[in-house]
Amino acid sequence: MWASAVLLVLLGSFGANALDNGLARTPPMGWLAWERFRCNVNCTADPKNCVSEKLFMEMADRLVEDGYKDAGYEYVNIDDCWMAKQRDANNKLYADPERFPSGIKGLADYMHKKGLKLGIYLDYGTKTCGGYPGSLDYLELDAKTIADWGVDMLKMDGCYADVKTMKTGYPQMTKYLNATGRPILFSCSWPDYERGAGIPINYTLVAENCNIWRNYVDIQDSWQSVLSIIDYYAKEQDTLVPVAGPGNFNDPDMLIIGDFSLSVEQAKAQMAMWAILAAPLLMSNDLRTITPEYRDILLNKDVIAISQDNAGIMGKRVLQHHANGIEAWTRPLSNGVFSIVFFSRSVKEPEFVTVVMKALAVSSDTSYEVTDVYAQKSMGVFKPTDSITVYVNPNGVVMLKATPQKVWKVENNMIVLN
Ligand code: GLA
Repeated sequence: MWASAVLLVLLGSFGANALDNGLARTPPMGWLAWERFRCNVNCTADPKNCVSEKLFMEMADRLVEDGYKDAGYEYVNIDDCWMAKQRDANNKLYADPERFPSGIKGLADYMHKKGLKLGIYLDYGTKTCGGYPGSLDYLELDAKTIADWGVDMLKMDGCYADVKTMKTGYPQMTKYLNATGRPILFSCSWPDYERGAGIPINYTLVAENCNIWRNYVDIQDSWQSVLSIIDYYAKEQDTLVPVAGPGNFNDPDMLIIGDFSLSVEQAKAQMAMWAILAAPLLMSNDLRTITPEYRDILLNKDVIAISQDNAGIMGKRVLQHHANGIEAWTRPLSNGVFSIVFFSRSVKEPEFVTVVMKALAVSSDTSYEVTDVYAQKSMGVFKPTDSITVYVNPNGVVMLKATPQKVWKVENNMIVLN
């Protein structure tokens, strides 16, 4: 009786403060403007690539017509530089009227008619990183405004802000979002700013208030940038893995597949690693001009199925071979299945790698049927003591899925499913 009363009180206070939108049960998928289109507001000189409603509508059309929506990509996200340079007479934000003649509400309607969702960008400080109006002192008004427009996701950045106040300020925004009654997926940049400022990050608090959150620096259009991000997640994995789960995911930033820098091997590597990390799959690329080999990687349904596994567990690095630059990462999936990625930092030649199955953190004593996910072929059945050999290209991956064999065994005089 006493215990249940305490529980009720605890649940009550949790419910009132925490984000309760039921969203992001698996890592969110969609498209986000920033990495590819930045703060290009020059629609006179560059009408095709400037940040305008036309850009988002064209990306939405591609998502629907080229199979991305069917594969799970549903959010179309505006980033910085969408606003007019100041608030209106009632302090409300509004979109630059020349670049967004339909307004954000019109754009949200466009997305909803296509079965897509619209995301938007605000900044917790006095200005956005690109110098547009910030939300400090207007959090409640801005939460209401975006909800009235029919926005489905909010990325709240943290430029021009006192980082020390974020641990109270972001949760304040969570309350305002809850109060709108509209489910709005909340993406917080708060932990990244705390990291940058050397402030300890309380991930329990972050996870109570945000669906996804940036931990580390912005991705750029380079393999080096992808590598440095993967390094950070490996270094911090003991902190980051426990906070991820349905409703809450660490965000290593956008997919740059199909942009100017990654080779096909590197693109497959980013896709596989983001799936292993249970990361949001937010593409930042030009879907109007992307070539088929990159599109196929983004649409690979087996890799997406690993990313979207219901258990929502984030994977981690389990082996590092310093001599040949190859690492193994594993992610436990539902029903005892594992996904494994052999990831190569080598800049030399394809390498054979041989590992004993049980070194990949495959936990039970069951045999596993192993398939090569990109090659779409079975590699056979392996016992924990068996060795498995893969051939990994430089800057590339081999992604495997290991499915436990349903075999019966005798345990304590009973026949049980092994
Ligand atoms: C910060 C964010 C980026 C992007 C820009 C916009 O750098 O981390 O993802 O939103 O601001 O100015």
